[in-house]
Amino acid sequence: MGSELAGKVVLVTGATGFIGRHLVARLLAAGASVKVVVREARVRDAARLWQSVNLSQVVADLMDRDLPNHVCDQVDTVFHLAGYAHAEDANDPRAANVHWRITVEATRSLLAQAAHSGVRRFVFVSSVKAMGEGGDMALDESSPAAPETAYGKAKRAAEKLVLAAGLAHGMHVCVLRLPLVYGPGGKGNLSRMISAIDRGRFPPIPDTGNRRSMVHVDDVAQALLLAAEKPEADGQTYIVTDRQAYSTRQIYERCREVLGKPVARWSVPPSVLQLAAKSGDIFFWLTGRHFFLDSERLGKLTGSAWYSSDKISRDLGFKPRWDLEHALPEMVTEYRKVRES
Ligand SMILES: NC(=O)c1ccc[n+]([C@@H]2O[C@H](COP(=O)([O-])OP(=O)(O)OC[C@H]3O[C@@H](n4cnc5c(N)ncnc54)[C@H](OP(=O)(O)O)[C@@H]3O)[C@@H](O)[C@H]2O)c1
Repeated sequence: MGSELAGKVVLVTGATGFIGRHLVARLLAAGASVKVVVREARVRDAARLWQSVNLSQVVADLMDRDLPNHVCDQVDTVFHLAGYAHAEDANDPRAANVHWRITVEATRSLLAQAAHSGVRRFVFVSSVKAMGEGGDMALDESSPAAPETAYGKAKRAAEKLVLAAGLAHGMHVCVLRLPLVYGPGGKGNLSRMISAIDRGRFPPIPDTGNRRSMVHVDDVAQALLLAAEKPEADGQTYIVTDRQAYSTRQIYERCREVLGKPVARWSVPPSVLQLAAKSGDIFFWLTGRHFFLDSERLGKLTGSAWYSSDKISRDLGFKPRWDLEHALPEMVTEYRKVRES
C-alpha cells in the first residue's frame, strides 16, 4: 500500500542528524516532497548529503528568535526532530539554557508558524527522559512524568506545547518518546561503548541484571510515519522501543563478540566502579571536565531504564524489525570504516 505522505510537502527539522537522515530517506522513498531545515553552517554538508536527490532546504537556526515566516508555507506535515540528544547535562547548569531554547522555545515558534500556515500534521520527537530515568519496572505512557534532567524537563515542556497546539488549532499532533536509538551513523552511548571496548578502555562490568530499552533508527522512522499517517495517533503520546530489555553486561559481551574479542570471564567489583565514579565527580567539580567515569555515567551503565511500547503496537500496528543482536555487526563495520578513514 502506498504512503499517505506521497506527493505531500513534508518539513523535517534535525534532518542532518542521525535520525533525521534515516527519516528523510524513508520519506523520499515514500514519494513525499521533502523540505529540510538546515543551519547556515551546514548548508554545504547538506548539499553533499542529498546531492543526487530532489529536496528543498530552508536555511534557519531554530534558536533564533524570529524564524523565517515562510518556513511552513505549503507544508502538509512537520516532523520536528531538532535537539541535543547526547548532551550530558545532569551536572552542568549551562546546558539547561540550551535545552530550553532548542527544545521548548524553538518548538513554540515552529508550532506558531505551523498553525499560521495551516499545517495539518505535526509529529514531535521527544525522549523517555521526559518521563524520568525509569527503573526495574517497565514504565508506560500512563506512568507519571517526573523528568530529572534539564533535557528531560525541556522535552516534557515541549510535549505539552505540541499537544495543546493540537487542541487549539485542530492540528493532528503526535509525540514519540524514544529511548537510546541505535543503528549505523549513531553517536550515542552505544557507539562510545563500541569504541571504548575496541580500544581496551571499557572494563568488564558486572552483571547487575539491569534492563534497558533501546530502538533501531529504521524502526524509529517507521514509527514516525505511522504517527503522521494513522488518524488514531492524533493527540497521542507513544513510547517506541524494540521490545527487548538489555542488561549492560549482555550488550558488553555481544559487542566484544562482534568485535572479535574474547569475552572476559571476570568483572570489576561494583565497589571499585563506585569509587572511580566518585573520583570522576570530584574531578568534574574541580576542573569542569568529564573523567572517563562519574556517577551519572555509572548510573546509566548499571541502572535500569525500561519502557513498554505496547501502546504504539496496539494502536498503530508498530512492529519493530530490528534488535541489537542483529544490528551490531553493521554498526561495528561502520565504526571500523570511520576509524580507518
Ligand atoms: N539519538 C537518540 O538516542 C535519541 C534518543 C531519544 C530522543 N532523541 C531525540 O531525537 C531527535 C534527533 O536526535 P538525533 O540523535 O538525530 O540527534 P543529532 O544527530 O544530534 O541531530 C540533531 C539535529 O538537530 C539539529 N539542530 C540542533 N540545533 C539546531 C538549531 N538550533 N537549529 C536547527 N537545527 C538544529 C542538528 O543540526 P546540525 O546538523 O546543524 O547540528 C541536527 O540536524 C532529538 O530531538 C533528540 O532529542 C534521540
